Amino acid sequence: MYILAPSVLAADFSKLGDEVRKVADAGAQYIHLDVMDGAFVPSISFGMPVIEKLRGCTDRVFDVHMMVEEPGRYIADMKRAGADLICVHQEACCHLDRTIHQIKECGLKAAVALNPATPVETLSCILSEADMFLIMSVNPGFGGQKFIPYTLDKIRKLRAMLNDAGLNTDIEVDGGVSASNVRSVLDAGANVIVAGSAVFKNDAAANTREFLEIFREYKTGK
Ligand code: DX5
Ligand code: ZN
Repeated sequence: MYILAPSVLAADFSKLGDEVRKVADAGAQYIHLDVMDGAFVPSISFGMPVIEKLRGCTDRVFDVHMMVEEPGRYIADMKRAGADLICVHQEACCHLDRTIHQIKECGLKAAVALNPATPVETLSCILSEADMFLIMSVNPGFGGQKFIPYTLDKIRKLRAMLNDAGLNTDIEVDGGVSASNVRSVLDAGANVIVAGSAVFKNDAAANTREFLEIFREYKTGK
């Protein structure tokens, strides 16, 4: 199943609720929420209070991308705020196995993200533990950056590792994905697509529908 996860980082923050409703009504299955602490990444975005308010706007899956040091400190708070899925960075967790299980014990889905320079082999021990893996296709911290082409090899390699292990785990890709390069990302083996600027530029509902149409065509082999 192919899933679109619009990143609200590129939305108009002065009317965030409407922006989220727009993409949800147009059919986006996930809402991607980028939480940044100014330490793991240079920028600061938003946290629990914003997510809690948005929770009232939609019942779509809240895919919370934690770009923070030691995200294990915030799992319970994020659950209270309304997260469905929490994605932590391998590079930000000293005890990754513990953090993944903390998330799952809260009843949430657990995902692990890798920065562009982190090899997928670092996931080999926890392949069967996570519900999703996120391959960053830009250096995290900002929206609107250019897709890094070598990350396609990482997606391919990770999909092969999962296949070898008999796992059909979701692979999410985040950063610089647009309607013009998304097919190569799907070809490489990803099935959850984050898009910020490509969705929220101009008409967010039309852009959402365009991505979903590409997914449909892709599935039917058109
Ligand atoms: C980057 C964030 C992304 C970002 C994607 O650090 O994790 O989710 O919002 O934005 P685009 O799609 O514009 O690259
Ligand atoms: Zn993100």
